[in-house]
Amino acid sequence: MKTVVLLYSLVFSGLTVFFIQQKSLEQSLEDGAEIYQDFCVQCHLDQGQGVANAFPPLAKSDFLKNQLELSLKGVKYGMRGPIEVNGKNYDGVMVAQGLDDQEVADVMNYVLSNWGNQLERPITAAQVADIQK
Ligand code: HEC
Repeated sequence: MKTVVLLYSLVFSGLTVFFIQQKSLEQSLEDGAEIYQDFCVQCHLDQGQGVANAFPPLAKSDFLKNQLELSLKGVKYGMRGPIEVNGKNYDGVMVAQGLDDQEVADVMNYVLSNWGNQLERPITAAQVADIQK
């Protein structure tokens, strides 16, 4: 009996840890959509189209595709200085939006799943946590 109880509690706590650490992609996309509306839409706009000469597009962004690490870093810590996105030059400032690692992962999963972008591998909070300033 003791073994059964022990096994049961081991499995149960193991599952709990698993679910806390691994948010489902579906949930991440749902939360990401909300974060996008709260923190990004005012500059990058509803369809990620951006604003000419001011805010680069996220829709079909080649920068996002080729520089995913830099993009994650930019959303986590902020980004400034000249960049080229889809053949156009930008030299602006994006301040850090104050999101935690999970929120950065969620919003980037959302962005990468929309507007012609490609989410090859879901972004995780652990991956964002590894990005240094
Ligand atoms: C105040 C306006 C503003 C807000 C709010 C903002 N950004 Fe940006 N974003 C910019 C600017 C400006 C740049 C380019 C910075 C540069 O020129 O170096 C940029 C660059 C980017 C890039 C890399 C370039 C590209 O177009 O692929 C990504 C990705 C990005 N932003 C995502 C986000 C996400 C996600 C959010 C919300 C969490 C967000 N931004 C909020 C202004 C903003």
